[in-house]
Amino acid sequence: MAKNKNYLSGKEIRAIAKENAKVMKRLEAEKYRKADESEYLTEMRDSKNILEIDKLHTYFFTEQGVVKAVNGVSFDIPKNATVGVAGESGCGKSVTSMSVMRLLQGPTGQIYSGEIRFNAKEKSGEEKVYDIAKMPIRDIHKIRGNQIAMIFQEPMTSLNPVFTIGQQLDEVTFIHNPDASKEQAKEKSIEMLNLVGIAMPERVYNSFPHELSGGMRQRVMISMALASDPRLIIADEPTTALDVTIQAQILDLLRDLKTKIDGSIMLITHDLGIIAEMADYVVVMYAGRVIEKGTVDEIFHNPMHPYTIGLQKSKPTLNSDSDTLFNIPGNVPNPINMPDYCYFKERCAQCTKKCSGEYPEMIQVSPTHFVACHLYDEGQNDD
Ligand SMILES: Nc1ncnc2c1ncn2[C@@H]1O[C@H](COP(=O)(O)OP(=O)(O)OP(=O)(O)O)[C@@H](O)[C@H]1O
Ligand code: SF4
Ligand SMILES: [Mg+2]
Repeated sequence: MAKNKNYLSGKEIRAIAKENAKVMKRLEAEKYRKADESEYLTEMRDSKNILEIDKLHTYFFTEQGVVKAVNGVSFDIPKNATVGVAGESGCGKSVTSMSVMRLLQGPTGQIYSGEIRFNAKEKSGEEKVYDIAKMPIRDIHKIRGNQIAMIFQEPMTSLNPVFTIGQQLDEVTFIHNPDASKEQAKEKSIEMLNLVGIAMPERVYNSFPHELSGGMRQRVMISMALASDPRLIIADEPTTALDVTIQAQILDLLRDLKTKIDGSIMLITHDLGIIAEMADYVVVMYAGRVIEKGTVDEIFHNPMHPYTIGLQKSKPTLNSDSDTLFNIPGNVPNPINMPDYCYFKERCAQCTKKCSGEYPEMIQVSPTHFVACHLYDEGQNDD
């Protein structure tokens, strides 16, 4: 009888579990090791960047096999810039950001290889470059929650429902300044609420999270993220749970705050409209890889990868003369058994003979524009 490819035998499951256990044990031991700072101090490739993600591989070791959620991702976040990360659901946007924040759920989720170089600034003003991927988890407090802050999609899951907003905001002050008095903490909390445009800060300070609207909760989350003066804000779908007018206000707020902290933003969203409005650079991901990256102008006015072109066609526009949305046919390949050739091949209308060969290399088409597609290799018309 022919073997069903979707079915794993007991023997195969045991073999996967054994191999997974070995790798997870090694990676967990590295994560919880004690290490001297010199082990993870490094240099930036370009001093104009605040973050450089370099050949990052983040895997989940599941019972069915290894899910290569992030499979060799490289991109930079320049200082004072907003970088939009786009791509359809499941392409690895959140796993990339969770890797930068080292928030992956172990032992299953692990950074397998690659570098995440971050240009940190100490209180003294001294700059240091850390490879976040190599930092032991006990040292991560040096950057997480102070130098890099994260804003999540659904603030209700990030705020504690049993404490008032004031208690939670004061807590942030106490973490950064353990000697602060209660009055000083409250004063700082009210100041933070004012900063993010909350009209009645005193009332919000005494409220529980469920007593606030979604937009107000997101403002509170942003104020918490900003309390520590971060150099980089990672916002993962910060406005997806909000209605359109509130979305616009939150985006304005993010823009103002970027100027105020003189920092950078990594903005993750599947909404290309938000990217066009907010970002200086765009990274397009597909099935755990970057398939195109460039300035916002390059990606919107000269998209090159068939997937990026399809993504833009699938975006609703007011002036469109068609009443149906463009749909990219087909599915993303199974993340456990990724093919060796271009992952977009099964869905690509422009695929040539070359596309059945090796996965396409990243090709540089301008100083800032890169694309991974055989159409732009030399000698592309060889079919
Ligand atoms: N805990 C986990 N165990 C196994 N696989 C996981 C886990 N978390 C994420 N994945 C897989 O990693 C891949 C990337 O997921 P990720 O959450 O980064 O997608 P995303 O681009 O953020 O999508 P969305 O737009 O829906 O938020 C997906 O294939 C997902 O199934
Ligand atoms: S490499 Fe080939 S299959 Fe992949 S996107 Fe380019 S043309 Fe399409
Ligand atoms: Mg996500």
